[in-house]
Amino acid sequence: MAYAAGVDVGSTQTKAVVINEDRNIVARALTDTGANVMRAAVSAFEEALRAGGIREEEVEYVVGTGYGRYKVTFGNTQVTEISCHGRGAVQMFPATRTVVDMGGQDTKAISVSPDGEILDFCMNDKCAAGTGRFLGAASSALDIPLEELGPTALRGQRPVKISTTCTVFAETEILSWLGKGKKIEDILLGVHKSIARRSAGLLRRVGIHDEVTFTGGVARNVAMIETLNEQLGLRVNVSEESHFMGALGAALFGLDHILASRVPAGERWEQ
Ligand SMILES: Nc1ncnc2c1ncn2[C@@H]1O[C@H](COP(=O)(O)OP(=O)(O)OP(=O)(O)O)[C@@H](O)[C@H]1O
Ligand SMILES: [Mg+2]
Repeated sequence: MAYAAGVDVGSTQTKAVVINEDRNIVARALTDTGANVMRAAVSAFEEALRAGGIREEEVEYVVGTGYGRYKVTFGNTQVTEISCHGRGAVQMFPATRTVVDMGGQDTKAISVSPDGEILDFCMNDKCAAGTGRFLGAASSALDIPLEELGPTALRGQRPVKISTTCTVFAETEILSWLGKGKKIEDILLGVHKSIARRSAGLLRRVGIHDEVTFTGGVARNVAMIETLNEQLGLRVNVSEESHFMGALGAALFGLDHILASRVPAGERWEQ
C-alpha cells in the first residue's frame, strides 16, 4: 500500500496530511509557519510521518500547496491552494458546490463542479478584515486566547457594530468599545458578525450554491460557523478536518499521480 502526502504551507500555519490508497487520512500534523518557511514544511511533514508510524520511503508522492508551496523542496510538485481546498472539500462533502476557506491572511470563496473542478474563485484583496488575522488582532487586544474567541462571542447578546475594514485599526476600535463600557462578548460577537458579512459578500461574488463547505483554520471557531450560517441562511459543512482540507486536497492530487503512473497489467503489451 502506497501513501501520498499533502503539505499546505499557509501564511500562518503549515499543515501536513498523509493518505492511503483508500483516500483515508492516516496521519496529520500542524505547526506555525513562522519565519523559516522551509523548516515549517519539513517539520510538519516529519511530524505527520511520526504520528502515523510511516517511513518516508513509503510516501510515493508529495504535493506542496499554500502560499509557501515552492518551499516544499522535498515535494514532487505544487498545486494552488484554491484547487486543493476545492478538491479536499468535495472529497469530504461530495455535494459541495461552494467553498469558503478562511485562513490567517486570506479568505477565499470558491465555486466547484460536482467532480471538484474549480469553476470560479474570489479573494479578499488588500485588506485582511475578513480573515483570521482580524481575529488575531481581537485576541491580542482583548487578551483572550484564540480558542476562546468563538465560545466567548456566542455569549454576546448585543453585538457592537464594527465599522473598521482594516486589521490595523481593529485593535483601536475594539479598545474604544471597551472604553465605552461594552462587554467583551458583545464586542467579539460584533467582530465575528463583521467578518461573516464580508465573507458572505465574497461568496455572493462566486455564487452561493448549496452545499457550502467551510475550510481553513477559522472553521475551528464556533462563533464564525454560527455567524456565517446566519448571514448565508443555511448551514455550512464543517468537519474535524476543515483546517486540513487544503493539505488533504494536495494529498489527493498526489494519489491521482500514483494511480495514473501504474500501468494496468492488461495494457502493458500495448506500450
Ligand atoms: N483552535 C483554533 N481556534 C480558533 N481559531 C483558530 C484555531 N486554530 C487556528 N485558528 C485560526 O486559523 C487561522 C489559521 O488558519 P489556516 O492555517 O487555514 O491559515 P493559513 O493557511 O496559514 O493562511 P492563508 O490561507 O491565509 O495563507 C489562525 O490565524 C486563527 O485565526
Ligand atoms: Mg491556507
